[in-house]
Amino acid sequence: METLQQNVRTTVFEGAKKVFSELPLSEKEIEITQATQEKFGHYQCNSAMKWAKVLKKVPREIAEAVVASMNHEPFEKIEVAGPGFINLTFKNTFLSERINRVAHDPRLGVPPLDQAQKIVVEFSSPNIAKEMHVGHLRSTIIGDALARLFEFLGADVVRLNHVGDWGTAFGMLIAHMREEVPEALSGEKEADLPQLMEWYRASKKRFDEDEEFKKRARGAVVALQGGEEDALKGWEKICEISRKAFEAVYRVLDIHLEERGESFYNPMLPHVVEDLEKKGLITVSEGAKCVFHEGIRIPLMVQKSDGGYNYDTTDMAAMLHRIEEEKADRILIVTDAGQNLHFELIRRTCEQAGYLDPEKVRFDHVPFGVVLGPDGKKFRTRSGETERLVDLLQAAINKADEILVMREEGMDPSQRKELAEILGIDAIKYADLSSNRISDYVFSYERMLRFEGNTAAFILYSYVRIHGIKRKIGEEIDLSSESIVLEHPSEVGLGLHLLRFSEALGSMEQELLPNILTDYLYLLAQKFNLFFRDCRVEGDPAQNRRLLLCELAASVLGQGLQILGIKTVEKM
Ligand code: ARG
Repeated sequence: METLQQNVRTTVFEGAKKVFSELPLSEKEIEITQATQEKFGHYQCNSAMKWAKVLKKVPREIAEAVVASMNHEPFEKIEVAGPGFINLTFKNTFLSERINRVAHDPRLGVPPLDQAQKIVVEFSSPNIAKEMHVGHLRSTIIGDALARLFEFLGADVVRLNHVGDWGTAFGMLIAHMREEVPEALSGEKEADLPQLMEWYRASKKRFDEDEEFKKRARGAVVALQGGEEDALKGWEKICEISRKAFEAVYRVLDIHLEERGESFYNPMLPHVVEDLEKKGLITVSEGAKCVFHEGIRIPLMVQKSDGGYNYDTTDMAAMLHRIEEEKADRILIVTDAGQNLHFELIRRTCEQAGYLDPEKVRFDHVPFGVVLGPDGKKFRTRSGETERLVDLLQAAINKADEILVMREEGMDPSQRKELAEILGIDAIKYADLSSNRISDYVFSYERMLRFEGNTAAFILYSYVRIHGIKRKIGEEIDLSSESIVLEHPSEVGLGLHLLRFSEALGSMEQELLPNILTDYLYLLAQKFNLFFRDCRVEGDPAQNRRLLLCELAASVLGQGLQILGIKTVEKM
């Protein structure tokens, strides 16, 4: 089913075709936006100015001519306003007919993507032998929401965890553990990530201070890169210990991804450098092989002067692999905005090398801002160390529980615990997703756990309430042959908004901003409240058809939350 916006676009285009002998704009280029204010109607067309420029006429006249030739059938009102905007208001009967189709559509009026698409979404990507930090939390939450969106839109989504599992640091760590804690390296003794980090710090200290150790560490790197069995085993053990800690976080967040770390691309690195050389893109600078780009001082460095490969080389190989082997139609990489320059260099180099053709493959680096503490500085714990993610998640759950103790007196403790686990994690996810991804955002348990405003609790509460209406009136009522009739302005307002679900998802899909969807859901909850205030449901002659509208509102809210990775509850 086409969106309302598309319906307007087509109708305007058909009208324009009758006015112009030669069309200055294609249908796709006609600009249709949702009206900024209710009094202007439902949609607005802003293309008269562009038409006028080409035809050298007054925009208003053009707009009026297009309106005169348009099909007015679906519209209550079409007006030309200001310099030449066309404001359009649909008939209630038209919207009612639409919403009835949506109400009986399992996809809630959202069409799948035009063509089957393969979409690589790379997110989370923490580093081995280091704690995951809040930056990785953001990447995990945003990446999962984007992956879920594409899954709902019917794409074949590959969720990749590009863990930092390769590099010279591992030689150091292996050498140190071999000498100091061989039993942990062999696996005879269990070790955890905090221990591993301690050994990492100790190994670094020795590396800087002890020449002999430095040699042994370098030897271990060579052995590892040469694929020597003993070194490889040690490395695998180190990865395994780290992985366990990451998985604990993913479990709490209910996130699933496929690990395909930096090491995976290791065998492809020499080929990438050779190929770039062959294509004449390499400049040697102080012994290092670099690719320079116009207007950017820093080059992409694909081979260090000592012959080693690095982060840049790995990302070139990863792009090539995702395009040629995975045959991706779109590639998304979700990281902090600090890596903007890096990915700009990767994009340009890939384009120049002919790996990436923007006409065929859309590549988006999806950057996000920094998480700030209440003091406006980068988020840290009191001790000054970056907070461990599991602790941070657990704190949200504990705080949610404290709130529930106060709010829901007499709630059964085990039920409360379950609810707190959902609410705490939902609050963290929602707070992240609802702030504009690109800006920094302030992390505040107090704010994210509020029950009013644009928060998880408010949306969840609305969801539960809408669900409860049917339960209260009677679950056994059969609505399958009911038809919604949109009459009262609040009813029309809710119906129109429900019909815009696919537009919201469409914008999120293009702009990759999850807050488009949270804003949509927040407004949906508000529109529902207005409807429920103004239109009686229970006992009204319109009871059943209004119940159907309630049900659709609950389904859209539930589907929206599902896309965001926010868990719902039936009761609260
Ligand atoms: N491991 C990196 C970090 O923690 C993120 C990796 C991002 N992805 C990539 N393809 N470079 O900063």
